[in-house]
Amino acid sequence: MMIAKWLKESSSTTIFTGAGMSTESGLPDFRSANQGLWKMKDPSRIASVQALNNNVEEFFEFYRNRVAGVKEFAPNKGHHLLAKWERNEMIDGIITQNVDGFHTEAGSQNVMELHGTLKKVHCQSCGSEYDSDEYMKGNYRCECGGTLRPSVVLFGEMLPENAFSHALTLSEKTDLFIVLGSSLSVSPANQFPLIAKQNGAKLVIINMEPTEFDHYADLVIHERKIGEVLDEIDTELQENLL
Ligand code: APR
Repeated sequence: MMIAKWLKESSSTTIFTGAGMSTESGLPDFRSANQGLWKMKDPSRIASVQALNNNVEEFFEFYRNRVAGVKEFAPNKGHHLLAKWERNEMIDGIITQNVDGFHTEAGSQNVMELHGTLKKVHCQSCGSEYDSDEYMKGNYRCECGGTLRPSVVLFGEMLPENAFSHALTLSEKTDLFIVLGSSLSVSPANQFPLIAKQNGAKLVIINMEPTEFDHYADLVIHERKIGEVLDEIDTELQENLL
């Protein structure tokens, strides 16, 4: 596959992942035609600051289920291959929209979580952070009396400055940018593939369905599972490196 060749030739490779990276672990994505979360629920009613303040019960119910899902499932073959490629210095880092923590759990070190994480909750009043297990026990109160909420970015909120600036630096200097499992429909996260392309990177999009950015890509792979594609690339890399 051309991607294996590009991976070997590139001096800096960045991976960008979306919910499609974790469907093979058992987690639903958001906009897939057949099972996306937002096909059944209106995100603005659930995953927003308004929902947290005005629709508390539905908000907690939704996020308790998502935290349970993240704890029930685990990183898949694709997550582990990306961690191996980082160890072998084939990739520099992973910019992810996912909040499941699976890249880190699989062993990836340089992971920029643009939309935060379900692994933690924090107090809206004093900012104290707890493991999301507290949430699972139905404990929504901080020791200070404030309300606990998942440490994910809700619609209408700013992205974490640290993750955003690291992702921007990487996107500006990388020479190969590979998108895995994202519809690229949410900004500002969906600007990173463009920034990389505009700074001279080759852009690859591997996604089951077409995305709004396919026409910018140097290579697009549709209708194939990420796990299979990454496995094929890894086999080629091993053959060529022997
Ligand atoms: N292999 C390849 N592609 C897949 C697979 C798979 N196994 N499973 C799903 N996909 C594709 C789907 O076809 C879909 O186009 O992954 C894409 C996932 O897109 P979305 O569901 O829109 O998820 P994502 O792009 O990560 O959403 C971005 O939206 O709701 C917010 O904060 C949330 O981070 C999320 C953001």
